[in-house]
Amino acid sequence: MIDPQDLANRLPGDFVLGTATAALQIEGAADQRGRCGWDDFADQPGRIVDGTTPAVTTDHFHRVEEDLELMRAAGLDGYRFSLSWPRIQPDGSGRVDEAGLDFYDRLVDRLLELDIRPMATLYHWDTPLPLEAQGGWKVRSTAERFGEYAALVGQRLGDRVADWVTINEAATVVMNGYGLGVHSPGEEQLCRAGSVARNMLLGHGHAARALRSVPVRGRIGITNAHTPVTAETDSKKDRAMAGLLDFVHNRLFADPVLLGRSPELPKGLPLPTQVLLKAVSRMSRKDLDLVSQPLDFYGLNYYFPSLVAAGADPDGMSPDGESEAAKDLPFRLLDWPDIPQTGFGWPIAPDGLRRIAEEMAARYGRRLPAVVITEGGASFPDEPSADGSIDDEERISYLARHLDVAADLATGAVPGFDLEGYYVWTLLDNWEWAAGFTQRFGVVHVDVETQERTPKASYRWLTRLQAARR
Ligand code: FCB
Repeated sequence: MIDPQDLANRLPGDFVLGTATAALQIEGAADQRGRCGWDDFADQPGRIVDGTTPAVTTDHFHRVEEDLELMRAAGLDGYRFSLSWPRIQPDGSGRVDEAGLDFYDRLVDRLLELDIRPMATLYHWDTPLPLEAQGGWKVRSTAERFGEYAALVGQRLGDRVADWVTINEAATVVMNGYGLGVHSPGEEQLCRAGSVARNMLLGHGHAARALRSVPVRGRIGITNAHTPVTAETDSKKDRAMAGLLDFVHNRLFADPVLLGRSPELPKGLPLPTQVLLKAVSRMSRKDLDLVSQPLDFYGLNYYFPSLVAAGADPDGMSPDGESEAAKDLPFRLLDWPDIPQTGFGWPIAPDGLRRIAEEMAARYGRRLPAVVITEGGASFPDEPSADGSIDDEERISYLARHLDVAADLATGAVPGFDLEGYYVWTLLDNWEWAAGFTQRFGVVHVDVETQERTPKASYRWLTRLQAARR
């Protein structure tokens, strides 16, 4: 077991260790915001594993003081939260709900009072329903609406938010939401993937430009999930499919944003796949200029490495659920032999983080700004023991091993990859999208009936680590 004191000695003093959350997963208070695509999605039978909805979740909207106290008591340096677009702009355009904006205004003030660095994500998947009804990210106009929303939020919070993330994990929205239909809006239109990706890139561009022109005082970045990809065998087919997954996860968003050019399609792709990706592989110069404005930092979510083989999964399985459309994918993801898994079945591989760092430093060189790990964490089926304590040793080991790699990356282990912080996913057990409450990622346990918060052993471990760093 890694000793918190050892880790504390190795993490730079200004390294930001925090927790990350997303509005829809914790806030509840759905009666005080507009509806989003996920509200509708969750109302459809069979969409969410346990049949729950985002209406109440952890009721953070009403318990924000208690949750801030948890962060303060642990001595955390930073907090990444997301702004609920439908709470601020219920229709996704036009009218602003000042009360919604007030909630975040107070949250930012309180974080600053507690000396916790505020990082705000503008979009963590809760597209206002009226926009979703008009096509959501399938249409270009959503990107423009997103830029308008960024401007009005920037005007209100721009003097105090330290770090801005425009969009969280666009690739997940493209694949899970519009391609495979396992997330909202539940569409199985792999053929639209290219144009959805392009519109999300444009959304990032409009938002970054809007924040710059306010101008906000904080730093501006984007967050993508990266996964190091390995082909199951050395065959041409498997390698081409590993290239395709690498393209979708690691380059589709990062290349245009960081290099200002469309990512090159991997060699050996079947013609239909090439056609699907046309919209993004041939973006206009003007669009690319919008998308590739210089960023102050790059947000990286790291959960697991991927093992890929050619040919669809016959049961249509994807990491986030079963989907008819997954039977049309030209590849499938395999379980890693011999790597232990989290409760979600995700392989636990801290080394993958190092590999991502090496690949990104090599690919982006000087174009890669400072990097912040904006999410990393694990779900385990932890249950309180008889005395009420929750001894989540596996989560402690997960965090310690990942922070161990992070400490290396923060001290120059991979030249060109300058790591500044790590945000643990997540503070509270929460509503884990299509998995409902069945996957617990929190360092604090939440009883969904009573809303009682109980810090787990991992929370106490983080607290010791932070105390040792001071
Ligand atoms: C990421 C999401 C986050 C959470 C974690 C487990 O992909 O950004 O909201 O669901 O996975």
